Amino acid sequence: MARSNRVDRILRHVLSLSIAPAAVACGIDTDGFTAVTCGSERYLSDLHAAEELDFMQLVDIGEGPSDEPRVMTTFGTKCGSASNVAMCEAAIAAATSTKGFRLGQCVDSCPRHILITNKGDEVEVLDTKEAVLALIGPIDTAGEAVLAAELAEYHVACNNTEEGGVRAAGSGFEVLGTRYTEICDPLVRELYLLGINADGNAQEIDSEVIESSSACIGRRPAGLARRKACGSTRVGAYLASVAHLEAASVDAFEALAAELAHHGAPRTLVERAGIARRDEVRHARVMRKLASRHGGLFRAPSVEKQAPRSLEAIALDNAVEGCVRETFGALVGMWQARAAKDPAVRRAMRRIALDEARHASLAWAIDEWIRPRLDAAARERVEAARRNTLEIVAAEARAGNDPELVSTLGLPDGAAGERLARHFEVAVLALSA
Ligand SMILES: [Fe+2]
Ligand SMILES: [Fe+2]
Repeated sequence: MARSNRVDRILRHVLSLSIAPAAVACGIDTDGFTAVTCGSERYLSDLHAAEELDFMQLVDIGEGPSDEPRVMTTFGTKCGSASNVAMCEAAIAAATSTKGFRLGQCVDSCPRHILITNKGDEVEVLDTKEAVLALIGPIDTAGEAVLAAELAEYHVACNNTEEGGVRAAGSGFEVLGTRYTEICDPLVRELYLLGINADGNAQEIDSEVIESSSACIGRRPAGLARRKACGSTRVGAYLASVAHLEAASVDAFEALAAELAHHGAPRTLVERAGIARRDEVRHARVMRKLASRHGGLFRAPSVEKQAPRSLEAIALDNAVEGCVRETFGALVGMWQARAAKDPAVRRAMRRIALDEARHASLAWAIDEWIRPRLDAAARERVEAARRNTLEIVAAEARAGNDPELVSTLGLPDGAAGERLARHFEVAVLALSA
């Protein structure tokens, strides 16, 4: 039987497995985490830079140009292999920046930092989070994982495994960190279980409130800024962004149908892409209506027309957008059709989820047709892209959704997202085998 025919059945199976309550304890289990040592030395003592360096120096450059820079810690021998030591030391002493990255959450005081690196006579200033992650990536030590969490502006407490710690998990690490999520009436501090991947991205796997009071503590942290919304309500803004994506899918299926025809794909695949295009026109219309009912402001997508892509480019796009994202989208749609408080959303999602499950089947059918037409290296690249997107989608699902979106639109919260992600990962691996 073709894999594509199994997609709908598998999605329903994943859904039923995910609905069953998980037998897990309440709160984040902090067992098995190693405590982080105190003191600034910890920032540099466990780093494997991508290239061998003579010396690193972490500097706190304060909040503004009038602040005196402060060396927090160093590692290695300053100008250890320089041909002109005096010039090298002068360059390190003069190194500064107007930018700088944060370490941990900025609440009352918001110092910025730079990392000065030295190899031979060369002195470099790294003054962004991205530059530091590029230097230490891939993340393969516990110290790097903790630094990545701090660069993502979580506070990792030292010598206290209830509020800070690190452990290896799968191909990456998990870090415990805290953050203030409300800083005034109430004051709320949360503990986060973070997944740190090889690139140093921190994904929130789980969170729990560990402190709540009616106090205030000054300045709002930068991380509290609300996501830019197009609408007068959060639900409306979310629905408007979904309507935008549905409208963009119309163009995607139009291009896909043309490309499949161009590469001589079976007529049924071309026709199914054409039907999917029509579905997406309807989805965009329905979501646009729902968005406007909730105060959302629809913005039409602007998509640039492209010449037909290569078979490998189509296969990559299909693996990422179809086999993973659209397939998971179908699953979330099924979930919403049961869980949304708004009956209009439940009705809309029942129909949309059915269509999306067919689109997911089409993606797997295209995958089945295209795979034998690629060489082994291209097939491996497609598979790697699929695995990578699966990890991203699973992490996003585990992070859960805003409580208002969970309630009104029935989107999965973190716990439901965790179950959906876990069973979905198994299902996708089975389908791609
Ligand atoms: Fe759609
Ligand atoms: Fe779709």
